[in-house]
Amino acid sequence: MRSSVFLLCVMGISLTQIEFPTSDLVKQTCKRTPNYDLCVKTLLSDPRSSHADVAGLAMVMVDTIKAKTIATLHRISELLGTTRDPKTKAALRGCVELYDNAVLKADLPSAMEALKTGVPKFAEQGTNDAANEADSCERAFSGVSPITSFNRNVSDLCRVASAIIRLLL
Ligand SMILES: *[C@@H]1O[C@H](CO)[C@@H](O)[C@H](O)[C@H]1NC(C)=O
Repeated sequence: MRSSVFLLCVMGISLTQIEFPTSDLVKQTCKRTPNYDLCVKTLLSDPRSSHADVAGLAMVMVDTIKAKTIATLHRISELLGTTRDPKTKAALRGCVELYDNAVLKADLPSAMEALKTGVPKFAEQGTNDAANEADSCERAFSGVSPITSFNRNVSDLCRVASAIIRLLL
């Protein structure tokens, strides 16, 4: 009895010490994107990546972009509540148009649909458009944007997604 408890403890310790290797497909895929570290970090934070094919990895990226887009819209709406400067307010409202009407309601759903139906060309276009919209939002501010890191993160993720999707063409 005592020895089996001991054995279980030893097994428990060794199991927690096993390092699961980064999946080869994730590594190989991310090497062909413009941002290896962001790509690996993003894919490995979603359990679906461990048994996904390249199209599945692209879907994980698109879902991540969607979550970041929603977080960006939240931040914009907070800022709209506190910003007094009319130029900044106008730029923020323009960004809502870009992120809500374009990225969230058009680009990402069409990219996802295209991945599901096996038409990667349209998925590539959706993610490229989304990257351009994040960049346009950033350029809408004269001087410093209050949401630079949001815009940059969305844009970077879109470019990684687009590169993954190009592997499917
Ligand atoms: C942008 O990405 C960086 C690096 O992953 C992270 O540290 C930062 O918190 C992100 N910013 C936002 C606003 O999500």
